[in-house]
Amino acid sequence: MSDKNKNDKNKMWGGRFAAGPAAIMGEINASIDVDKRLWREDIAGSKAHAAMLAAQKIISRDDADAIARGLDQIAREIENGEFKFSHALEDIHLNIEARLKDLVGEPASRLHTARSRNDQVATDFRLWTRRACEECAKALSDLMTALVDKADTHADWVTPGYTHLQIAQPVTLGHHFLAYVEMFSRDRARFEDARARMNESPLGAAALAGTPYPIDREATAKALGFARPMANSLDAVSSRDFALEALAAASICAAHLSRLAEEIVLWTSPHFGFAALSDAFSTGSSIMPQKRNPDAAELCRAKVGRVAGAFNALLLVMKGLPLAYSKDMQDDKAATFAAFDDLALALAAMTGMIGDLTMNKDAMRAAAMRGYSTATDLADWLVRALGMPFREAHHATGAIVALAEKRGERLDELSLEAMQSVEPRITEDVFSVLSIDASVASRTSYGGAAPENVRAQIAEWRRKL
Ligand code: ARG
Repeated sequence: MSDKNKNDKNKMWGGRFAAGPAAIMGEINASIDVDKRLWREDIAGSKAHAAMLAAQKIISRDDADAIARGLDQIAREIENGEFKFSHALEDIHLNIEARLKDLVGEPASRLHTARSRNDQVATDFRLWTRRACEECAKALSDLMTALVDKADTHADWVTPGYTHLQIAQPVTLGHHFLAYVEMFSRDRARFEDARARMNESPLGAAALAGTPYPIDREATAKALGFARPMANSLDAVSSRDFALEALAAASICAAHLSRLAEEIVLWTSPHFGFAALSDAFSTGSSIMPQKRNPDAAELCRAKVGRVAGAFNALLLVMKGLPLAYSKDMQDDKAATFAAFDDLALALAAMTGMIGDLTMNKDAMRAAAMRGYSTATDLADWLVRALGMPFREAHHATGAIVALAEKRGERLDELSLEAMQSVEPRITEDVFSVLSIDASVASRTSYGGAAPENVRAQIAEWRRKL
């Protein structure tokens, strides 16, 4: 054991230790590079704790005041980039406490009464994740507003609706955008639900068993905006399902973003030509001068990999951990922080892209007219006008489509005689349902694609947003 190790005995817990850690031990143990992001939450938690200790007469009012002043000073130092983070002090909790000792002396040593880093970090991380959920919910509201605006300006634009990415039936572009509004609203609700469920305070659980001091956990919970203290101290220090739930919500949201991103990639490809992104959201190629690449959409499409990876990473960290705290849990933060950074970026970029998109009406109409997209309308006409059973109408329509294909014509270009060669009872009236505009206008069932439905839904969303 080198003298250097002896000298580096940990100031915070070195009492029973004769020497400091091996260099590599220090390296694997230190989390400060990651958890320094919790400084705001850590200071808020300590201030709430100190105020409660004083109110309960566990420490003196003077000591609590000195602690609060010191913590405010530390907040300023960190804010201004003047704070010196130390690896030897492991994590954000010990870094702040050590600095507090420098600043205010003995009272700082009383702050950790009736508290452990275990309930401290659980509190900090909960507060951080709570805010992340709030920020995601807000970002989703912004994205939904951008989509509702887009739906509004394109409420009755006709575009192909697909199944299997084959042209299926015409729909309105407004309806298409509103489908994403529905998805993102559920994502937002998932973040809100997760936030509500996680909003309980671990503080005061201490190391794992609670504490003999007459603490007031209701008071610290209230001071930190939690609905109540967590009821079981073992659970309080060792549960991370709040973060898992937030990451699950984030993963689903990122998957939804990837689907919309993929649509933008397809729409802006020359094969579709349905949409264009301005220079602000396009990138060029270093070799092919003609290229306009939708890089932001592709990156939004990719983010689900990292976000869902973070969910998986934390799930596997937590799997099989016995109660209560284990140091494994220190590895809960890096991926979580990164996942919410990624998601915030993707949500903002997507909101920007949606606002930026210019849609091409003619290209979408032309595509919507292809693929015999009103064949279902023809079958439905046969049912309604001729009283045919749907299965039979389906069969007859199939034959008419085959005929149109052979003649190289669209359904609405086929002559009445041609259609009558398949089903003699067809009349001129059939043409009233074969246009794409008639098709979308007819989709008035609740939740359907008709422009009037789209307008009603937009009004509903405007009210809700
Ligand atoms: N840095 C630690 C973490 O993030 C804080 C808790 C440490 N607790 C302990 N008993 N060593 O989990």
